[in-house]
Amino acid sequence: MAKKTIASVDVKGKTVLMRVDFNVPQDDSGNITDDRRIRMAMPTIQHVIKNGGKVVLMSHLGRPEGKDRAADAKYTIKPCADRLGKLLGKPVKFVGDCVGPEVQKAVASLQAGEVLLIENVRFYEAEQIKDKKAKDDPALAEKKKSFAKQLADLADVYVNDAFGTCHRDNASMLTVPQQMGGKPKVVGFLVKKELEYLGDSLNSPKRPFVAILGGKKVSDKIGVIEALLKKCDTILIGGAMQYTFMLAQGRKTGKSLVEADKVEEAKRLLQLGGSKLKLPVDVVCAAELKAGVATKVVEGDIPDDLSGFDIGPKTVAEYKKIIAGAKTIAWNGPMGVFETKPFDTGTYAIAHALVDATARGAVTVIGGGDSAAAIEQAGLTDKVSHVSTGGGASLEFMEGKAFKAVDVLDEA
Ligand code: 3PG
Repeated sequence: MAKKTIASVDVKGKTVLMRVDFNVPQDDSGNITDDRRIRMAMPTIQHVIKNGGKVVLMSHLGRPEGKDRAADAKYTIKPCADRLGKLLGKPVKFVGDCVGPEVQKAVASLQAGEVLLIENVRFYEAEQIKDKKAKDDPALAEKKKSFAKQLADLADVYVNDAFGTCHRDNASMLTVPQQMGGKPKVVGFLVKKELEYLGDSLNSPKRPFVAILGGKKVSDKIGVIEALLKKCDTILIGGAMQYTFMLAQGRKTGKSLVEADKVEEAKRLLQLGGSKLKLPVDVVCAAELKAGVATKVVEGDIPDDLSGFDIGPKTVAEYKKIIAGAKTIAWNGPMGVFETKPFDTGTYAIAHALVDATARGAVTVIGGGDSAAAIEQAGLTDKVSHVSTGGGASLEFMEGKAFKAVDVLDEA
C-alpha cells in the first residue's frame, strides 16, 4: 500500500517532527566524511520550510548505549546541525538533549521556517528497547512508550524520512508514530523514493533483470540471494563471498577469505540458483593486501600462497556483456577490495557498466553500504537511477522483510 507523503499535509504554522538518518561516517576528530544522508533528507526539510512549517529533526548517530552520558558524549549529533546549516544556507538550531524541559522550550520558541536538531536519540536507552523484549516486560514497554510519548508530544505532524533506519523498531521510528494519536504520520520524499526504487521497480522489473551481489560474506546475503532468485533472470556474484562458493564447488581458494561454516549453505544456493547464479571465471590474486602489490590473474584453483582480492578481466568482460543486455539492474556489495588499488578495478568497471546501462534507459538501483560508497567515490552517484541511503535497511527490504516503521504510517 502506498503511504501518504509530506506533500499531502498542510504544514503552515505546524511543528513537524521529522525522523532522519544522520548516521554519517566521521573521522577520528569527529569531522563528517560523507554527508550524503544529510543531503538526501534536504528536499523534505526544504519543503516544510517553504510551506511555513517548523522543523524538529531527530536522528541517531553511531551506537551509544544510552547508559552513561559522559561516555556517550563523543556521539553528539551537533556536527550534523552545523553541516545541515551550511547546506541549507541558514542556521540550524541545536539543543543538547532530545526530551525534557530544555527541548520543550527550544521547540516552543521555533518560528515558521526554522529548523532545530535535537540531540542523538540513542542517548536514551529507551530508544533501542526491542519490541520483542518489551512484550514480556511491562516495565521496559512503559519505559519505551513514555520516552516516545515525550517526543510525540512535541509536534503536530510526524515524518519518517530515515530510510536507513526503517528496519529498526527503535522508539523514534515506531513507538513515536504509534503515540501520535490522530495526528498525521507520513513519509518524506527520500523514503518515498527508496520505496519506489527498491520496492516497485525491483518487484515489477523490466526484463531482463540482473542482480549483482558482492561483499565479504555469503552469510550476509543468503536471504537476498534467495529472494532475488525468485525475481531475477541472472545473479552475478563477486566480492570475497565468491570464495565460499568456490569451496562449495570443490575448488581451492588459497589464502582467500572464506566462511568455512557456510559451505553447505553455499552448495544449497548453487543448486537452487542453477544457471541463473553466475560465479567469476577468473580472480585477481596477490600474496598480501597492499596497495601496488604484484598481482596474478588466476583461473580455476587459487595457489596456496595467494589470496583473491578482485574479480578478473575475463569476468569483468562477461559481466559487462550481461549488464549491457539488462533493463533492470540491482547492485549490492563491491566486487573486490576497492579501497586498495589495484583491487578497485572490478568494482569500478561494474560501476561504469551501470552508468552506461542507465544512459541507454535501464533502471539501475544500488543498495547502500560499500557499493554506494564506491559509486560515490567514483563521482557517479548522479549517473545511475538510484543509490540507496540504506545499508542493512536496503538489504532487508530487498529480502522482502516487512518494515513496521513504514507500515505504521498513514495510507495514501
Ligand atoms: C545504518 O547505518 O545502517 C543505519 O543508520 C542504522 O544504524 P544501526 O545499524 O546502528 O541501527
